[in-house]
Amino acid sequence: MKKMTEEFLRVSYAGESQAHMKYLIFAARAEQEGKLNLARLFKAIAYAEQVHATNHFKALGDLGDSIENLESAIDGENFEVEEMYPAYDVVAKLQGEKAAIRSIHYAIEAEKIHAAMYSEARQAAKEGRDVDYDNIYICPVCGYTVEGRAPDTCPVCNAVKDKFVQF
Ligand code: FE2
Ligand code: FE2
Ligand code: FE2
Repeated sequence: MKKMTEEFLRVSYAGESQAHMKYLIFAARAEQEGKLNLARLFKAIAYAEQVHATNHFKALGDLGDSIENLESAIDGENFEVEEMYPAYDVVAKLQGEKAAIRSIHYAIEAEKIHAAMYSEARQAAKEGRDVDYDNIYICPVCGYTVEGRAPDTCPVCNAVKDKFVQF
């Protein structure tokens, strides 16, 4: 692919991805407000943006098989844990931005677990099998991620067990 086209397609992928996420967040707020049709509209259009993001991603040649995809996922999580969030954390602390410090802390704690879980999945994929995970629970407050059973309270943010979302 020509360089300018690739660059613009990457920007488009980022924009569509962010629109997808933003609309899902807006849908959750609409639901809290009892505006169920508005929530449905946001969710529907979020899905359309996901389709656009997926098409751009594939056109860029970024979709591989699961072993390649896990490499990409592990690289991304490790980058966040080792470089990105530690650097952002320094700036947030320097500037006394409490909300940012908290959301960075929540993210970095979860990303460490994500990298480890993906590494296990990659090992399984290399052995030609699916990863053997039981139920996975996610804390809806901080994103803490755990396999097996949800803790009584989240070790990162203290959210209670029954709030955890099961996958
Ligand atoms: Fe779009
Ligand atoms: Fe992550
Ligand atoms: Fe949490």
